[in-house]
Amino acid sequence: MIKNSWTSDAIVNAGNTFNFSISTNPSCILVIFGGTGDLTHRKLMPALYNLQCSQKLPGQFAVVAVGRRDKSHEDYRYEVYASIKNFSRFDIREQSWDKLHRRIYYRQFNFTDPGGYIGLADFLRQLDEQYQTRGNRIFYLAVAPEYFSVIVEKLQACGLAHHGKSWQRVMIEKPFGRDLSSARRLNQKITEVFKEKDIFRIDHYLGKEMLQNIMVIRFANMFFEPVWNNQFIDNIQITSCEKVGVENRGGYYEQSGALRDMVQNHMLQLLSLTAMEPPAGLDTEAIRNEKVKVLSSLQRFTPELVHKNVIRGQYGPGIAKGETVPGYRQEKLVAPDSNTETFMALKVHVENFRWAGVPFYIRTGKRMPFKSTQIIVQFKPLPKVLYARRDEQLHPNLLVIKIQPQEGIFFQINAKKPGTQTNIVPVQMDFCQNCLNDLNSPEAYERLLFEALRGDSTLFTRWDEVEHSWQFVDNIAATWQQHLPAFPNYPAGDRGPQEADKLVARNGREWLHIGRQQ
Ligand code: BG6
Repeated sequence: MIKNSWTSDAIVNAGNTFNFSISTNPSCILVIFGGTGDLTHRKLMPALYNLQCSQKLPGQFAVVAVGRRDKSHEDYRYEVYASIKNFSRFDIREQSWDKLHRRIYYRQFNFTDPGGYIGLADFLRQLDEQYQTRGNRIFYLAVAPEYFSVIVEKLQACGLAHHGKSWQRVMIEKPFGRDLSSARRLNQKITEVFKEKDIFRIDHYLGKEMLQNIMVIRFANMFFEPVWNNQFIDNIQITSCEKVGVENRGGYYEQSGALRDMVQNHMLQLLSLTAMEPPAGLDTEAIRNEKVKVLSSLQRFTPELVHKNVIRGQYGPGIAKGETVPGYRQEKLVAPDSNTETFMALKVHVENFRWAGVPFYIRTGKRMPFKSTQIIVQFKPLPKVLYARRDEQLHPNLLVIKIQPQEGIFFQINAKKPGTQTNIVPVQMDFCQNCLNDLNSPEAYERLLFEALRGDSTLFTRWDEVEHSWQFVDNIAATWQQHLPAFPNYPAGDRGPQEADKLVARNGREWLHIGRQQ
């Protein structure tokens, strides 16, 4: 086996390269609703700290966390310090922490209380004076979805959503609705208050290093684009598996399942970046237009197709990391007879000229044997003329875009086994960019916050992307609702239900996974 790693200064320095010109003045106050929640502590505060360490926060900037629990600014900063210590990619550097922590504030009120917003507006005005933030705001809704509309309405009612010549943006976590109609209602509410260009709908996968790299790999290399179509590609597999179960999120997950939690957003984003046409330019709308075209070309699932090409699963008790773990139905806040899927696999076609006839297989699940997200492009078999004997087939060429935990690219090509005459073996070229010791690439939320500060919404989902994704997902959900599944159908720590293997085996294929299973 030939192994080849590539290194270059550009890659080693990749952590420092996302400092593009800023279109609007980024000075602002970031207001985080849900300031005491898990997301804020595990992701947002560490991301802000990392941005501070990389000197990517505006000089004139402050953070106000809003929560329902009563605490002082100092108490809150103390808790944030502990979270940063645990979850940040940089170790605590006293100078950076000192600069950030003085700019973090805490406000306590109930999100439904109009008085709380009036107090917040006064407080923000004082901070504007102190930090010269000119009324610019980002409102980050890191709250349960039932509060999205409430908060936006109240922001408008107390005049916080629009303010003279300054800018106001809103960042919204997923889930953006539970189906198409609830997403439409939510969107209606939000667009009554904020313009589309000021709405930053989060899909944190878009902030991942390798997702941005998909377009670069495809469109900055001469040898991919000519073969990136149904003439040369046999099938594409997009897999995102997790080792963990639902942890403490049973309440939320019961309402979502793998279909709404992963497929509606992350998996379809991976698919659209893989299948899109080259955009006319690198501006936000040109890229989003191409993604939307893919989503609108997805094969429409009839009930028959759902039965045939969509598989759902739920984990039962099993073994993970050498320990016995409970099944999904035994998890906290999960119904003992729950029919929520923790795994799904599907085969879908993108019905356009480039992709006609090429199946896209999507697979995602919890409590799988390893954590991994990959896009595997399998090329067509070669004619059995020169090297393959009649009874055997050469290994297919593979291109793998490794999203996580390893970030990189992998190729499989055929070559002669040294010392033999015609013995042909697959050889691999494997590039792992985050295996390089000195690369510490920015995390998704770091990038997303930075882009929102710049006012660039390329890494966020436009409404029509959300709309098309829900249309696709709703068709599957509607068919599922008519039929009770036989759950659980795979043990925790396993590869998912056998039906998923049969889905690919039916066409003589198998699920592929490249690299170590960790
Ligand atoms: C979230 C889902 O959006 O993505 C979680 O709600 C899932 O259920 C997570 O675990 C996976 O994200 P990542 O970055 O760990 O692949």
